[in-house]
Amino acid sequence: MQFLGKDIPSPLTLASGILGISFSSLQRIIRDGAGMVTTKSLSLEPRIGHEGPIIAEFEGGLINSVGLTNPGIHDGLLEVEKFHKEFDGVSIVSVFGGNATEFVRLSEAVNHSNADFLELNLSCPNVEDEFKRPFALMPEKITEIVAAVKSVSQIPILAKLSPNAYDVALMASLAEDAGADGITMINTLGHGMVIDAIAKRPVLRNNFGGISGPCIKPLALKLIHDVYQKVQIPILGTGGVSNGLDAVEMMMAGASAVAIGSAVYERGLDVFKITRSEMEAFMAQHGYSDYSDLIGILQEN
Ligand SMILES: Cc1cc2nc3c(=O)[nH]c(=O)nc-3n(C[C@H](O)[C@H](O)[C@H](O)COP(=O)(O)O)c2cc1C
Repeated sequence: MQFLGKDIPSPLTLASGILGISFSSLQRIIRDGAGMVTTKSLSLEPRIGHEGPIIAEFEGGLINSVGLTNPGIHDGLLEVEKFHKEFDGVSIVSVFGGNATEFVRLSEAVNHSNADFLELNLSCPNVEDEFKRPFALMPEKITEIVAAVKSVSQIPILAKLSPNAYDVALMASLAEDAGADGITMINTLGHGMVIDAIAKRPVLRNNFGGISGPCIKPLALKLIHDVYQKVQIPILGTGGVSNGLDAVEMMMAGASAVAIGSAVYERGLDVFKITRSEMEAFMAQHGYSDYSDLIGILQEN
């Protein structure tokens, strides 16, 4: 199948932030049958991120407040170079800037790499103390940043949106109008809080964090469905996909490819291999010959 003109062996994709940027883990994911890998969001300068605990499990999934820990765009792109030199796989470089100018500088740096796609993380909920409200909640910022990056980027760009916006479909159409080639959605939900009752304290050092995993899947499906009705550009769906059936549902809702994040913690690195065979078993059983046959076929009651 294809995603934004690139041939990919499966629609399964590593979501941003899950395995960092080490090229060897990115390669392993592709070897196991994923179509694409997304790097951790990279900023202009390295970031240490928040103090731990930064991630915790609860009955519905994960909560995290990593704080965009990353080695910076320069070192991050060195790993992407290695990934492409030694391996045939499609890469998505995720970037995070504090304003449109920083996003433009990040995009210019990525132009000098052999990355396939650029993902603009407009939606991290965990750095509000530093950067205020996520850009994905502000229509004028979506337009400004996407248009600015589009004017310099030499590769297709995906705008990563937040489930916290009041009207996510509107945000997606603004991104499309400003020149986005695709939408990635959804980033983590919330802030939420998980409490340690004995300690009488939140589990995360930062108190609050973004929620991911199975509990956000119904929201992801609904929002992807809404956005699919509204835009013409492809959607990289993410949010609570843990198995092949989840991935099938997300494609039926309108995703052209599906990124897996939290389930890597739950099911290990084999999740891509297993999910791909579960998808293929479903397709064989129900008469779908190609992954792309699933995209947007959901019928409302
Ligand atoms: C520990 C952790 C770190 C994350 N870091 C990033 C990040 O750096 N950039 C980003 O765009 N999304 C980040 N995300 C969000 C995921 O890419 C994904 O959008 C979200 O977790 C929903 O998918 P899931 O339910 O499959 O995890 C992170 C998620 C987790 C759990």
